[in-house]
Amino acid sequence: MKIAVLCSRVRVEEKWIFEALERRGIDYDRIDDREVWMDVLDAGSWRQYDIVIERSVSYKNGLYITRVLNSWGIPTVNMAQVAAVCGDKLATSEALARAGVPQPRVWTAFTPEAALEIMDRIGYPLILKPVIGSWGRLLAKVNDREAAEAILEHKEVLGSYQHSVFYIQEYISKPGRDIRSFVIGDRTVCAIYRSSAHWITNTARGGKASICPVTPQLDAISVAAAQAVGGGVIAVDVLEDPERGYLINEVNHTMEFHSTVPLTGVDIPGMIVEYALQAARAR
Ligand SMILES: Nc1ncnc2c1ncn2[C@@H]1O[C@H](COP(=O)(O)OP(=O)(O)O)[C@@H](O)[C@H]1O
Ligand SMILES: [Mg+2]
Repeated sequence: MKIAVLCSRVRVEEKWIFEALERRGIDYDRIDDREVWMDVLDAGSWRQYDIVIERSVSYKNGLYITRVLNSWGIPTVNMAQVAAVCGDKLATSEALARAGVPQPRVWTAFTPEAALEIMDRIGYPLILKPVIGSWGRLLAKVNDREAAEAILEHKEVLGSYQHSVFYIQEYISKPGRDIRSFVIGDRTVCAIYRSSAHWITNTARGGKASICPVTPQLDAISVAAAQAVGGGVIAVDVLEDPERGYLINEVNHTMEFHSTVPLTGVDIPGMIVEYALQAARAR
């Protein structure tokens, strides 16, 4: 068995994954995605790997490298198709809708004029997000038409190609927190609340983590969301709606867990390695 761990800079998560591999005596290579080149028609030395654990900070590098690996028949955690769905919030919403997993209402438009029209029809406040992005960056809570006009104009003038796809979501008045649940394979291994006075609760933006009990209901919706995007090692953002209960906000394919492991005591890196070993053997 030989494993590769694909990463950019080594964060504490990657360090823990290396340690989990070493503890199990598994032969592995660490591969820096910034140094990778691939002969697309010839897997060459990549053939030595039974599975590749993808931990790139760069969404694009991780996605394209796993795509080529999968085309050669080398499995990855997660598979490229999962990254393609999770990395794009609109693709995630489509997958959740197909699987019948509850989520906030969501609209899309492709010009500021069309976006403004639909936002006016729905009514404010609304959430506007880039389809690709993380760590709570460039999200906007649009409280009225004037704010909508300003944000849409800024996006049109200053934004990139991705910012011309408008992902508009219903605002959920959640109770000062959201839930991040961690799914590995067919099980929710743990969950945390992320609490903040700000409506954006990402820990990267100052949200405070505390333990969230994994009830059967939370487990069921988290696993359903993970499976809707193709499954694997998945982190799910869950919003608590006062009337409808749990709604899936988004799904992530390269999760961070540096605050969750010490808080919950759950050995996420060990579980990732066990999952990868199992997937490699099932190959
Ligand atoms: N529709 C929404 N209603 C209420 N809060 C939201 C909504 N969308 C996002 N949030 C808050 O913003 C945070 C970041 O949004 P998210 O879609 O997960 O973007 P990112 O990919 O940057 O993490 C969420 O964890 C949640 O706290
Ligand atoms: Mg999120």
